[in-house]
Amino acid sequence: MPGAIYAEGLVKTFGDVRALDGVDLDVPEGTVLGLLGPNGAGKTTTVRVLTTLLQPDSGSAVVAGIDVLKHPNEVRRSIGLSGQFAAVDEYLTGRENLQMVGQLYQMSARDAKARAAELLERFNLADAADRPAKTYSGGMRRRLDLAAALVVSPPVMFMDEPTTGLDPRNRQALWEVIEELVDGGTTLLLTTQYLEEADRLAHDICVVDHGRVIARGTADQLKAQTGGERVEVVVHVSEQIAPAREVLAGFGKGEVAVADHTRKLTVPVTGGAKLLAEVIRELDARGVEIDDIGLRRPTLDDVFISLTGHAAETETETETGADGAAQQKEAVK
Ligand SMILES: Nc1ncnc2c1ncn2[C@@H]1O[C@H](COP(=O)(O)OP(=O)(O)O)[C@@H](O)[C@H]1O
Ligand SMILES: [Mg+2]
Repeated sequence: MPGAIYAEGLVKTFGDVRALDGVDLDVPEGTVLGLLGPNGAGKTTTVRVLTTLLQPDSGSAVVAGIDVLKHPNEVRRSIGLSGQFAAVDEYLTGRENLQMVGQLYQMSARDAKARAAELLERFNLADAADRPAKTYSGGMRRRLDLAAALVVSPPVMFMDEPTTGLDPRNRQALWEVIEELVDGGTTLLLTTQYLEEADRLAHDICVVDHGRVIARGTADQLKAQTGGERVEVVVHVSEQIAPAREVLAGFGKGEVAVADHTRKLTVPVTGGAKLLAEVIRELDARGVEIDDIGLRRPTLDDVFISLTGHAAETETETETGADGAAQQKEAVK
């Protein structure tokens, strides 16, 4: 039986661009699928097709047991969506916007009010709750849009890069709300540019690039494929790149990557902190002076390099202050 979100052979072209080039998905009920990929991979296009906002050139999709192409209106009634197309009413306050969503979904006025207050609090909008949304900064708008999508818990939810541009505090708040939603039985498709986020939230991950799924599996399976942790070293002077590379090659489980201009060397390893100490001793013994050294978990870039041999072109903008200008840009994309 197909899952709560099912797609087969989705193709969508825009002129010369094959935004989707045969995407297959199957998300079991009550689970989270992370659609992970760099900018332009086809994530938003996939979400738009599955949420009935865009007709594919070919392929089929079933959401909550309903054929997306044949019965779009019924699909719309069974899903929630948050993303790069906010449904916020400018002239209403944040609180009124959320209460209105609750009432549209037949909540009692009292429940809608309580849920609105809870979400405003969680997304750090309580102070601005009674101001019209048109006075909100980009970051606040984005959080209000997310909160609006979370007022009710539809059986199937789609979230398109929900945390792109959020600061760490709001990202954490969103992760918690998402986890509660999924505990409640919601099936979620979430797109992200961050391996760390897919790792935290998703049961299964599909890595997409150029409109195709290039890998699928659990976060652990992808990381194993990618080679676990990385040791990253920044050497003090360029002349020390060569000896440092030799040292790292001796400890690494894969190729040593070198960024000449930043004097940074990276190598996949297994062995954690103990190994890191040995690397430091060996570098010291070879007279290599280091500016910085550390262990880090694989990023989307590492996954990409190991899958495709090239780096993903990701954006890493985040909210600067409480409500940075980064959002303004994100919000209009
Ligand atoms: N409406 C559109 N018109 C023309 N090209 C589009 C349109 N929407 C998306 N594309 C192109 O399709 C590709 C996939 O885009 P998108 O699905 O938005 O990627 P992502 O969400 O992963 O960043 C990109 O090359 C993008 O430029
Ligand atoms: Mg997108």
